[in-house]
Amino acid sequence: MPAPPPDARSFTATVSAVVACGTDGVLLSVRPPQPLPPLRAARFFMLRREDGASPAIPRPFSLYRQADDELVFLVKVTGRGTRALAACEAGSKLRVIGPLGNGWPDLDGDGGPWVMLAGGIGSAPFFMAIEQALSGLGAAPALAAENLCLLYGASTAGFLYDLERFEELGVRVLVATDDGSRGFRGNVCELLEREWEAGGLPRDVRLLACGPDPMLHAVERLARARELSCWLSLEELMGCGVGICNGCPVPTRPEGPLGAWPNAKCCVEGPVFSTEEISL
Ligand SMILES: Cc1cc2nc3c(=O)[nH]c(=O)nc-3n(C[C@H](O)[C@H](O)[C@H](O)COP(=O)(O)OP(=O)(O)OC[C@H]3O[C@@H](n4cnc5c(N)ncnc54)[C@H](O)[C@@H]3O)c2cc1C
Ligand code: FES
Repeated sequence: MPAPPPDARSFTATVSAVVACGTDGVLLSVRPPQPLPPLRAARFFMLRREDGASPAIPRPFSLYRQADDELVFLVKVTGRGTRALAACEAGSKLRVIGPLGNGWPDLDGDGGPWVMLAGGIGSAPFFMAIEQALSGLGAAPALAAENLCLLYGASTAGFLYDLERFEELGVRVLVATDDGSRGFRGNVCELLEREWEAGGLPRDVRLLACGPDPMLHAVERLARARELSCWLSLEELMGCGVGICNGCPVPTRPEGPLGAWPNAKCCVEGPVFSTEEISL
């Protein structure tokens, strides 16, 4: 039975800043009672306010950045829980459970370049992934910037959260919007196809993707059709985040490394899965 990670804790953290980001998002900085060691990108935390303004069930959020003993989350307001978090002020207290989940695999230099496909708020787990790959945090040695490329898509420019900061990281960032308000007109899969045709990227890229369900389905199809290595960070609805409620099933591939059991738990076996393991 998969269990939550051994470093997961429940603690009270203090909000230090809430800064508007994009059309409907905020950067929420919180200070835990003790600094946390460097955490792998794409791990997540369950968050809720302690003053009763949040729903009783905490909500999951990828760790966006970790700096100066603070944890920063990029939160898109979609409903009651995210609205309550976005309405926090400096000094607000949050109940935090984490770090949870597995995070991205080591971004090694033993294959084709890594192409990160981000859809809207799905960019959240990529900021630290790029920072860590360039600095060599984790088991893999530092990667040169040319081994990384971020394809950042959204329906419209206002949902390209914190784009300027991504562009300052020093890797190639290509932008796509459905309405053409910024960058390539179309989605990130179409942008990747265009890059292949133009010779801007080799064919043997390795894919990491996070974004809305239709985008992840399209990325999975593309990866299978091209026989590419691919990892997806899933944003399933979650109840507990620690493997108890069975609220986050993900269909597994019977012939894949997770075995014949029909579902994995996104919270404890993910949120990152390779397309060898699951089939959306
Ligand atoms: C591992 C993980 C990491 C995540 N990281 C982030 C992040 O970094 N930033 C961020 O803004 N959000 C992230 N999410 C999604 C976030 O948890 C949801 O947006 C949040 O739970 C919505 O809560 P709410 O109370 O505001 O909305 P609700 O009232 O619960 O829902 C509002 C609407 O959004 C839909 N909805 C809620 N959750 C999801 C979801 N996960 N996927 C698709 N539709 C959903 C509901 O069905 C409903 O229609 C992540 C989710 C997971 C599982
Ligand atoms: S969210 Fe409860 S088991 Fe995954």
